Amino acid sequence: MNTIPLVDLSVQHAQVADEVEAGFAEVLAVGDYIGGKAVSAFEQEYADFVGARSCVGAANGTDALEMALRAAGVGHGDEVVVPANTFIATAEAVVRAGARPVFVDVDDDALLIDPAAVEEALTDRTRAVIPVDLYGQVAPFEQLPKSVAEHGIAVIEDGAQSQGATRHGRTAGTFGTLAATSFYPGKNLGAYGDAGAVTTDDDVLAQRVRLLGAHGSPAKYQHTDFGFNSRLDTLQAVVLRSKLRRLQEWNEQRRQAAAAYDRMLWGAAGVRTPVTLPGNEHVWHLYVVRVENRDDVLQRMHAEGVGVGVHYPVPVHLTPAMSDLGYTRGRFPVSERAADQILSLPLFPGITTAQQERVVDVLLSAVRPDAD
Ligand SMILES: Cc1ncc(COP(=O)(O)O)c(C=O)c1O
Repeated sequence: MNTIPLVDLSVQHAQVADEVEAGFAEVLAVGDYIGGKAVSAFEQEYADFVGARSCVGAANGTDALEMALRAAGVGHGDEVVVPANTFIATAEAVVRAGARPVFVDVDDDALLIDPAAVEEALTDRTRAVIPVDLYGQVAPFEQLPKSVAEHGIAVIEDGAQSQGATRHGRTAGTFGTLAATSFYPGKNLGAYGDAGAVTTDDDVLAQRVRLLGAHGSPAKYQHTDFGFNSRLDTLQAVVLRSKLRRLQEWNEQRRQAAAAYDRMLWGAAGVRTPVTLPGNEHVWHLYVVRVENRDDVLQRMHAEGVGVGVHYPVPVHLTPAMSDLGYTRGRFPVSERAADQILSLPLFPGITTAQQERVVDVLLSAVRPDAD
């Protein structure tokens, strides 16, 4: 059977393989496995790419979020507002920082944080809000209620899925007081293992993130803060430098593939195609459609060798890991309904038109099985 994966990283790897090999050889020759030239060079290049003053590498995106929260002063007894429709890591980082996630619903079009819901969720204990640039488009940061800024509440951008996306011309990674991102292999800018980063314009906060990720240590064996070990791996920095140079081109290929899906699915009964918010340039980390009987559709498509996925099948407030928070079904109807309907179609730089046509053929016959 002709199978189509959800994500195929081989096209990207083929383009960077020689550079990566040469970069690895350089690191091995010198032996600077922690820190080293590649890490500082990548941090500078990524800061320049997003247009932030500083970038601090981390071991992964979840740590990056936790460090951003802790650098912003979030800790025990604080509340942090988080959308219910996100990957669990957004909320996990809040809990790990010692605070309580307060979930809010998302808008029914883009499935991004609903700014009006944020207003209702604010309390005296709210210390931060984490809008998530889910699926590859920037959240509507400028629509957050004025009271967020008035009360000195930190805005932390979860930009794990939006490398290179822009909103009204501004690049993801610059919208919050601090922004966290993930370079998990399947991300738009993906490493060959776990990696992440924090970006910010605030030098003091950047320094604080760096301190937290290095055992709270401003100098060897001095520990001024309770930190942990979360640094960007040197070999991953080699991969990321090479891939960053091609990110805009790969994002453009994603946009073209998304536009092709839009055309192929135009007017198709039973398939709701994704919505881009006005002002956004999407980078299509995921192309997420909505269908009824999603689990049946998913099974039929898998049986035909089409690697569709679900991001994410359980809204975070209903995951067992968050049960102590006391949320019940019915609280966030948009996120809950979406979780039953969303389906991510294969999309990656290098996907061919023939592959996309087959995805759409299989999708349409799975959505309307009686029409076969
Ligand atoms: C929205 C979101 N936030 C946070 C993370 C956490 O990143 P990581 O897997 O690198 O810890 C991810 C990625 O998995 C994500 O998609």
